[in-house]
Amino acid sequence: MKIISDLKGVRDVVREWKSEGQSIGLVPTMGNLHEGHLSLITGATARADRTAVSIFVNPIQFGHGEDYEHYPSTLEQDLTVLSNAGVDLVFAPNLRELYPAGIEADTRVTVPDISDILCGESRPSHFSGVATVVMKLFINVQPDYAFFGEKDYQQALVVKRMVSDLLLPVEILTLPIIREKSGLAMSSRNGYLDASEKKVATEIYKVIVNAATMVKSRVKTFNEIENVCERILNQAGFQVEYFSIRRQEDLKLAKDSDLNLIILTAAWIGDTRLIDNVRINLSNE
Ligand code: PAJ
Repeated sequence: MKIISDLKGVRDVVREWKSEGQSIGLVPTMGNLHEGHLSLITGATARADRTAVSIFVNPIQFGHGEDYEHYPSTLEQDLTVLSNAGVDLVFAPNLRELYPAGIEADTRVTVPDISDILCGESRPSHFSGVATVVMKLFINVQPDYAFFGEKDYQQALVVKRMVSDLLLPVEILTLPIIREKSGLAMSSRNGYLDASEKKVATEIYKVIVNAATMVKSRVKTFNEIENVCERILNQAGFQVEYFSIRRQEDLKLAKDSDLNLIILTAAWIGDTRLIDNVRINLSNE
């Protein structure tokens, strides 16, 4: 496994692979790898001839006062995991490599509409930060396929929209959320939770599953379901940012006639922000 921190090194490897006609699968990450990341890596190794994983905690997708400074870094451990997973290239650049003009540099990729709702409302420059760094990675790694988790459903839609609007020759593949036994979606941020907070955190998935059952039974309006669930989560110890039933395709508000729905929530436990979602496909009958 090659471990490379500079762009030139990455470009050389990519050029060599391309000249041999090998396809490349990329899994962008911020490190502190868990089984959620590993499922994407397994997807990439199954699909592409070569698998590249990037590890970079991207400052411009964090807002002021967010956890950029404390974001967990476990590079040595991550490298062992990646080498056992059959990864060919790890790209772990430092800040200057990806932002040579500093992070205040003005050139940004901004994907309209989809970036401004849900998580984008409370994190206004977040998705532009994500789109910008993912673009930098795509340009340099030139993947044929790139893998994203449905855990960050809105992020995956932002990336898909960027790829389609900018005609990028990369196929975006998304894979399901990997959960702990308790149902809690795996996340690097779960490490911030103490034992009692973690117990509270498991409610988030239960409440979404419960909401999904209510959506299917159609006894309550979407709005009623959202309000009930938000109240339950707040009573359980969360501070809910949003709990919303949307259309899968564009995350617009769902109407009664929509069949492919997704329930998404973002909620805080103390200083820790968690997100989760469940998709529901209703049939016409
Ligand atoms: P990070 O949070 O490290 O996540 C990297 C990828 O792993 C994302 O596509 C995310 O959706 C996926 N992932 C995280 N937890 C998951 C889980 N429980 N099940 C399935 N997939 C999961 O997302 C980012 O990094 C960054 O925003 C990045 C795309 C790297 C840009 O900086």
